[in-house]
Amino acid sequence: MGANGKRRARRRKVRQVSLGWTGKSAVVTGAASGIGLALSEELVARGARVLMADIAEAALACEAGRLGAEHRVCDVSDPAAVERLAADARGLFGTVDLAFANAGTIVNGPLADATPAEFDFIYAVNVRGAWSTIAAFARIMREQEGGGRICVTASEHSLGLQHGGAGFYTASKHAVLGLAEVFRAELPAMVTISAFCPGLVATGLADAVRPSHLAQPDDKQRAFGRAVQGQGMSAADAARAALDGVARGDFYIVTHANAHAAAERRFTEIDAAFAAQAPAGKDADRYDVNRIVAELRARRRPG
Ligand SMILES: NC(=O)c1ccc[n+]([C@@H]2O[C@H](COP(=O)([O-])OP(=O)(O)OC[C@H]3O[C@@H](n4cnc5c(N)ncnc54)[C@H](O)[C@@H]3O)[C@@H](O)[C@H]2O)c1
Repeated sequence: MGANGKRRARRRKVRQVSLGWTGKSAVVTGAASGIGLALSEELVARGARVLMADIAEAALACEAGRLGAEHRVCDVSDPAAVERLAADARGLFGTVDLAFANAGTIVNGPLADATPAEFDFIYAVNVRGAWSTIAAFARIMREQEGGGRICVTASEHSLGLQHGGAGFYTASKHAVLGLAEVFRAELPAMVTISAFCPGLVATGLADAVRPSHLAQPDDKQRAFGRAVQGQGMSAADAARAALDGVARGDFYIVTHANAHAAAERRFTEIDAAFAAQAPAGKDADRYDVNRIVAELRARRRPG
């Protein structure tokens, strides 16, 4: 293909991608930095109207101004603040087509030395924040004629790739995947949910702000964290993968091939445990709770 042909193909590709996004309304949490910022940039580039939310007020205002997006300060660990964000989004756009529950944080350190305050902090942001964001926008979307699409940022940690030193983070990202699976089962078909499970991405996560009542990493730990984080995939590439996966309606959106081996190792071990300890027999569904619940419900249905 000549240079002109390549240019035409590129233009065609951009037009194809942008068609489905133009004029769509989207909300992104954790939008002042990293993946959330890249999601906002990519959404704006694809023609969407974007409301960016974050706790980092100055960075949020600056980035939203640069992108020409709306913005609201919102701490996702506060369900009332998330409700206000959802109401504001509806007030601004009329409908909310896309919601990205992306805000998240991390605390490092071995589990045996971790504290209840660190646990509460991580779970309040990563788990309660994800749940309340998904729930608030799901309630809006299930009433809309066109439904909507929700994407929650989980992690490769959700799939079985753990590394020592981030235990509460790993557990919180398993919880996020668990929430996404249940929302997937409960939501009407017109509201889809995706679990975005990236691996290492070059973002500001290593510099995540911890409340002052928690132990703070020293300069050496921060520098090490930055050095690791900096080796990651670009946030722009990760965001493009997320948006493409959402457009396809994928539940699992994955980006890093190295996480596949971890997921496979986990599944192989589970598979072997079942084969050895609880092999499928002819009454394999005797204790299947989903079958039992469905049958009892059907029996109780009037008429
Ligand atoms: N960077 C990675 O390697 C990686 C990999 C997998 C998943 N993730 C996930 O991606 C998401 C985004 O993180 P990132 O890597 O872009 O990091 P980041 O630190 O660059 O961005 C996170 C943003 O979330 C905001 N935030 C933190 N707590 C908040 C709260 N309570 N309410 C609202 N906003 C809040 C921060 O101010 C920041 O702007 C997180 O859920 C993270 O767990 C990151």
